[in-house]
Amino acid sequence: MNFIKPATTFIQPFAVSFNLVEGIMLNPKSHLVRRAGDMKGHYRDHEALAALIAAGNPTHYEVFETPVPHEYGHLMYCISKLHPGLVGEEWFMTKGHYHTAINTGEIYLALRGEGLMMMKTPDGQCRHERFEPGRMVYVPPYWGHRSINTGREPLISFCVYPGDAGHNYGDIEKEGFPRRAFCRNGATVVE
Ligand code: F6R
Ligand code: ZN
Repeated sequence: MNFIKPATTFIQPFAVSFNLVEGIMLNPKSHLVRRAGDMKGHYRDHEALAALIAAGNPTHYEVFETPVPHEYGHLMYCISKLHPGLVGEEWFMTKGHYHTAINTGEIYLALRGEGLMMMKTPDGQCRHERFEPGRMVYVPPYWGHRSINTGREPLISFCVYPGDAGHNYGDIEKEGFPRRAFCRNGATVVE
């Protein structure tokens, strides 16, 4: 029986371990680190970001992966660790992206911390869902997505998405998100 579809590479099963307290994957094949300096153009307060870069360019977030083939049929997965902090009044967040194959969704399971998943469509719809440990956010196909840490500890989530999804950062950079999350008098305000 030929059960292997031509576009999906056959690989051996494997397993990986996580440290769920630290929010890290043990022995990842890839460890992406994005610092304040990688976030230019994403926050409302450009001067506050420049000051943060000058004051040591802190890490914003880290993504740990052990990649699988970027193909239909495989499932990509990662641990995303978004550090706490503010740029001016705006909570630390990821750049955000659409998937290049825009008809692919994603599952985010929050493991630690608190935050929001901000989502938008190319035609301007915008929604957000709350992250807290044990809460899953379903990002449907067609929705660009960005995580936001609204707490004082790292926001750690486990993500799963189709192997052929890809990342489209360019359109989000051009469009931005219609809503942002700020910290005002100790409370989170989305506007
Ligand atoms: C993958 C995905 C996450 C993010 C990660 C970093 O499709 O959504 O793994 O890639 O949270 O965020 P970005 O990619 O927006 O810098
Ligand atoms: Zn994604």
